[in-house]
This record gives sequence, C-alpha cells and structure tokens, in this order.
Amino acid sequence: MNLADLNKVARAMVTPGKGILAADESSGTIKKRFDAIKVESTEENRRDYREMLFRSQEAMSKYISGVILYDETIWQNAKDGTPLVKLIEQAGAIPGIKVDEGTQPLPACPGELVTVGLDKLAERLKKYYERGARFAKWRAVIDIGSGTDGRGIPSMTAIRVNAHALARYAALCQAAQIVPIVEPEVLMDGDNDIDRCYDVTQRVLNKTFQELRVQRVALEGMILKPNMAISGKKCAKQASVAEVAEKTVRLLKSCVPAAVPGIAFLSGGQSDEEATAHLDAMNKIGNLPWPLTFSYGRALQAAPQKAWSGKAGNVPAGQQAFSHRARMNGLASTGKWDAGLEKQAA
Ligand code: 13P
Repeated sequence: MNLADLNKVARAMVTPGKGILAADESSGTIKKRFDAIKVESTEENRRDYREMLFRSQEAMSKYISGVILYDETIWQNAKDGTPLVKLIEQAGAIPGIKVDEGTQPLPACPGELVTVGLDKLAERLKKYYERGARFAKWRAVIDIGSGTDGRGIPSMTAIRVNAHALARYAALCQAAQIVPIVEPEVLMDGDNDIDRCYDVTQRVLNKTFQELRVQRVALEGMILKPNMAISGKKCAKQASVAEVAEKTVRLLKSCVPAAVPGIAFLSGGQSDEEATAHLDAMNKIGNLPWPLTFSYGRALQAAPQKAWSGKAGNVPAGQQAFSHRARMNGLASTGKWDAGLEKQAA
C-alpha cells in the first residue's frame, strides 16, 4: 500500500468546489428510477443515460471530482465505442466503483440488514483497478425503528457486524491501492426526530471508527460518506436547515478524526434543494477539520432523469439540468450557495 498516493486521491475527491456523483444504482434501483420516468430499463438505455451524464462537460469538469459506477457500467462503452471510464477520466474526474453486493437479512435480528460482498473482493478489486477505478464504495444500512420484540432498532448486533464488514472492505481496498468510501447510512425514512437520528448515528460512527482502527485501516487514505443528523421523513416535527447543519457538524466533530481527508454526504431521500441547503449551511458554519462535500445520487440525478425521460432529443436538457444541480452543490461545498441562484436558472 502506498498511503501517500491513496491520500492524494482522497484529497482530490473532496477538492473544494467539487463533489462526487453517485451513479452506482444497482439494476433493481435504476429500474425503479426509470419506471418513474416511464423508460424501460434495458442495458442500452442505462448506458445512454449514464453516457449523457458523463458527457456533461460543464458539470463533469467543474463540479464533479469523481463518479461511483456500478459493475455493469464500468465495463460498458459509449455509443462510439469509448469506454465510459475514459469519458470520466477525460473530463478530469476520477472513476470509482461500488463493490458491495447489497444487503441480506441479519439472522436473529428481525428487520435488520447486513451488507454482503467480502468473498472474492480482493480479486474483484484488482480487476477494477486495472479498468481505472481509484476509489470504491461500500454501503451499510442501519434503520431506526421500534422493532418487533421490544428491543428497538438498531440493535448493537447490526451496528457491530456492519462496522466490521465496512472495515474489512476498507482494509482490502487499501491493500489494492483503492481509496475506500466508508458509508454507514442511517436511514431517514422513519418517524424519529433529529435527536434520535443524532444518537443512533453517533453510535454507528463510533463503532465504525473503532473497527477501522482494529483492522488497521489508514484514516488518511479513506473518505467517510455519512448521513446528516436529520428528522425522519415521517416525523411531524421537521428540523430547520440551521438545526440540521449545527447538529450534523457537532456530531461529526465528536466522532470523526481529523486525519480523515474528507467527508462526502449521501442525500438519502432529501429533496434536491434541501440536500444543497444543508450542505451549504454546514460549510457556512466553517472552521471544520475536513472538507465537507456531496456524494449524492438522487439529489443530483432526479432533475436530469426527468428532463431526459429516455428521449435522445432531450439530452441537452438533461445535461443542463445535471450541470445546474452539480453547480449548486459545488457552491454549497464551499458555503457559497444561495436560494436565489435556484430561481435564476429556472
Ligand atoms: P443518495 O444520495 O440517493 O442517498 O445516494 C447516495 C448513495 O450512493 C447511497 O449509497
């Protein structure tokens, strides 16, 4: 492992003004997105859609530091035969790859999940590196709920096994000279308030960093991808932008060592503008030990998906919508976004 090189890639991923495009939807997830815009999820349509994003010159060269790909996409070529990975590199962004293989029910923990995919991961990472991937992603999913047996969710079991798997993955990535994005996602789908989200996320992050230390992961060669401290979607009392920003910054400062080169948030089902406003408000607080940026999936792609709607003639509109969201989030990554900028583009 060459830690100086890993650190260089990690820092490039969180370059101020830029963030990460999470375009790594599994075949099942992209089908759901395409269903919403009435597009059939064929291999060609998935390729055309992603090619549209990666050829968005303005977004990719100015605001996107890296792109997380799904296994199918990393091996695909653009219509003219150019590997999609090359399009990303030519735009000046870094290709990355999602390497987890989804979740499975966790035995003896009703309603909880463990992320799988460690078997043969070392061999897979080697092939991805040869294809051009310089970073990877593994997402652990932690739910918040009341549970069925009175014990409550998440259980310490779920937190522990997921932290263990994240650290196993991260160590294997670093051995393969690939920067691991460590993503322990606490879901925001429940009726819990922001303080419960804060408490659960704190336990999850503390356990994750404990496991990373136990498994000798070099913090200087990784990126953390956390959720924000935020109200559950079904909670009657929704925290304000200022409260989300203040609590998320406080939470991260209490759990994330300064040696970590950067933090790139997931959007987790927030609306496009909320995800941007929250990131911006955190960066406006300032005086942070690490750059805070975005690694958004839905919050970057909902608008371009709608504008494109599967029609070749809509490619310029799709690219424009993508460039707009990328620019808004790029500004938010340095605390320079303003709600008025959204209206100007509309
Ligand atoms: P969302 O921003 O849509 O949550 O996706 C980010 C991601 O990569 C989740 O693993």
